[in-house]
Amino acid sequence: MTAGVDRAHVVVSEVAKEFETGATEPFVALDNIDLTIDQGEFVLLLGPSGCGKSTLLRLIAGLDAPTRGDIRVSGDPIAAGFERIGMVFQQPTLLPWLSILENVVYPARVRSQRLAREKRGEALRLLDMVGLSRVADQPPSSLSGGMQQRAAICRSLILDPEILVMDEPFSALDAMTREELQFELLRIHADSGKTIIFVTHSIPEAVLMSSKIVVMATSPGRIAETLETGMPHPRTLESLRLDRARELDGRIRQLIYGRDRGQE
Ligand SMILES: Nc1ncnc2c1ncn2[C@@H]1O[C@H](COP(=O)(O)OP(=O)(O)O)[C@@H](O)[C@H]1O
Ligand SMILES: [Mg+2]
Repeated sequence: MTAGVDRAHVVVSEVAKEFETGATEPFVALDNIDLTIDQGEFVLLLGPSGCGKSTLLRLIAGLDAPTRGDIRVSGDPIAAGFERIGMVFQQPTLLPWLSILENVVYPARVRSQRLAREKRGEALRLLDMVGLSRVADQPPSSLSGGMQQRAAICRSLILDPEILVMDEPFSALDAMTREELQFELLRIHADSGKTIIFVTHSIPEAVLMSSKIVVMATSPGRIAETLETGMPHPRTLESLRLDRARELDGRIRQLIYGRDRGQE
């Protein structure tokens, strides 16, 4: 046993995912994925469209099953781990007829009215943490995209999941809101110690937020390289000027585009 094994939170072993497409051979969306994510890690998945990032997140969240291989959360098969995972997508997908507070409480309400009542205080605390207490009683339509996405993050945290799985959660936001939310999420991560698995198309976002970056490649979808970020905390905009940040940026570009920045 190596030292990391005890802290392993999510272990993906030799996972493949194939889709039947009507062609003779099934389409290989993910091929031979091996990935170990430790407790409290902030893992960024990065790679070209179609390399299987969303598919991998769906498998980890238990929304779909691998064709081959095995995924475990704290040693348990994923079916049992499903409720221990909170999800955030590119769109906030709030229910328009419920208030912001009721949206945040919603995952509890699906379980029972009693749990919903118990979680009201926690929902207000979460909304306060992201600066949304003022609008708790308003409908989603009265909020900006960034505020709605903050509410969606609160909703994903309401059942106190061990793991947050986030699929390009900031991609639809303007650049300034995106930056604000990046630092808010870094703070939530530092305070909660949750394991976060986050998909992005943005190399600076990956470098800024991560403890580990998994660079993926297409045809078939696979891991090209896993990079330990190795930069100090807390992260600030200055972090992106560190030599290590430039090094990571260059390496990721090489892996994705086959060449470094500035080269033809
Ligand atoms: N349900 C499905 N049926 C058939 N093909 C799928 C299905 N889901 C995803 N794919 C294919 O698998 C590949 C990976 O998709 P996806 O995980 O969404 O990629 P990414 O999120 O990296 O852009 C794509 O080529 C996509 O078309
Ligand atoms: Mg995707």
